[in-house]
Amino acid sequence: MDVNSPAAPAKPRISVIGTGYLGTTHAVCMAELGYDVIGLDVDAAKLDLLRAGTVPFFEPGLPELLTKVQGGGRLRFTDSYAEIAQFADVHFVCVGTPQRKGELAADLQYVEAAFSSLAPHLDRKVLVVGKSTVPAGTAVRMEQLLASQAPCKDVELAWNPEFLREGFAVQDTLHPDRLVLGVRTEWAEQQLRAVFAPMIESGTPVVLTDFATAELVKVAANSFLATKISFINAMAEVCEATGADVTKLAEAIGHDARIGRRFLNAGLGFGGGCLPKDIRAFIARAQELGVDQAVSFLHEVDAINLRRRARVVDLGQELLDGSWTDRRVAVLGAAFKPDSDDIRDSPALDVAAAIGRRGANVLVYDPQALDNARQLYPDLQYAASAEDAVRDADLVMLLTEWREFRDMSPERIGTLVRRRNIVDGRNVLDPAQWRAAGWVYRALGRQ
Ligand code: UDX
Repeated sequence: MDVNSPAAPAKPRISVIGTGYLGTTHAVCMAELGYDVIGLDVDAAKLDLLRAGTVPFFEPGLPELLTKVQGGGRLRFTDSYAEIAQFADVHFVCVGTPQRKGELAADLQYVEAAFSSLAPHLDRKVLVVGKSTVPAGTAVRMEQLLASQAPCKDVELAWNPEFLREGFAVQDTLHPDRLVLGVRTEWAEQQLRAVFAPMIESGTPVVLTDFATAELVKVAANSFLATKISFINAMAEVCEATGADVTKLAEAIGHDARIGRRFLNAGLGFGGGCLPKDIRAFIARAQELGVDQAVSFLHEVDAINLRRRARVVDLGQELLDGSWTDRRVAVLGAAFKPDSDDIRDSPALDVAAAIGRRGANVLVYDPQALDNARQLYPDLQYAASAEDAVRDADLVMLLTEWREFRDMSPERIGTLVRRRNIVDGRNVLDPAQWRAAGWVYRALGRQ
């Protein structure tokens, strides 16, 4: 270790730049673990909400924890880079890296803005930690940026990808499967070990890597998960052609511990703010690096996934005898997955919009995502409850598997609809039970 470097404080003071899903959860959880934390955002409206103790998105358990840590005085919010630079020993960059409009590649403008806004204020040795999902090679560029723009020439960088799932964000942050620490020096490693001491002490595995590996771990993990989902969805296509049942197939192959049953749920496929854009950004970066062949299968993973949406529309159309025109269709689900209000790249809303364009009278219901859905799809109609959505429907389409939809009684729902037609887009209902109640039941990958 550099003898001139200060040792890691037992409890480094932490700043978190970007208060989206990742940043808010990280800031709140670090405060819960006993650290003093300051969260920064450039969005004044978001800061007002957070200061008032309101989480600006739906995430189970997070509002309670925010109130708790604010009460304890360990978390506050600011829009001032000067303030966080003065305060923190370790800065986490948690801003978004969305897909660029009209391109596969990731848009790094927010990452670049965060680093170049912070750097000029760094006048003592601190650690800046990238958590955002970025294309390989970004960390080295950000390191150069810090070297050229920070007044202190000893500022260091680390990369520490985050794997939290929406809906389980608190649990995943407090009890991660693993910690990946992309560092250049022992000093940086020690700062991170001090920051993550509670997790490390409770046995969380630590994987020490270089920058490029740390950047790649995240996209590799998400590519693997996306591939697993598209694999079972490809099998669903074969099952439909052969009369087989993809849910039984998944159960059977999932017993093989090498394969595993998780992430083998066939249906409408993946959406959200991570999997789709991460595999596309990976394809784009591999092209730049001249290794596009290595990930060309990801094009197919994406194509299989998007085909699911078209197939669900076809199934619905078959149940409506070939025409959507003026048919009443209840779409149950708008979020990209249950226990979330996130509608980014939501398969459910994509399907709802597609059948709306074909002339159907679509009524969408979701327990949490309606406000977000209304903003992005103002032309769709929305219902205040599942029962309101299905009233007089010619077709019910279950497209996001919220518990409340899985538990629906086919008899009760049957008394509300005009025709007992259901497409189970997530393979979560019991076909025998629905058919026994007089429904025509269709799903992806099973009869
Ligand atoms: C994902 C990764 O899991 C997480 O590690 C990463 O940090 C961010 O991206 P998230 O976007 O919250 O997390 O969603 P996830 O639970 O992974 O689900 C992704 C999508 O796949 C959802 O649309 C879900 O409905 C779909 N899915 C998941 C399936 O279609 N089938 C499955 O078996 C599992």
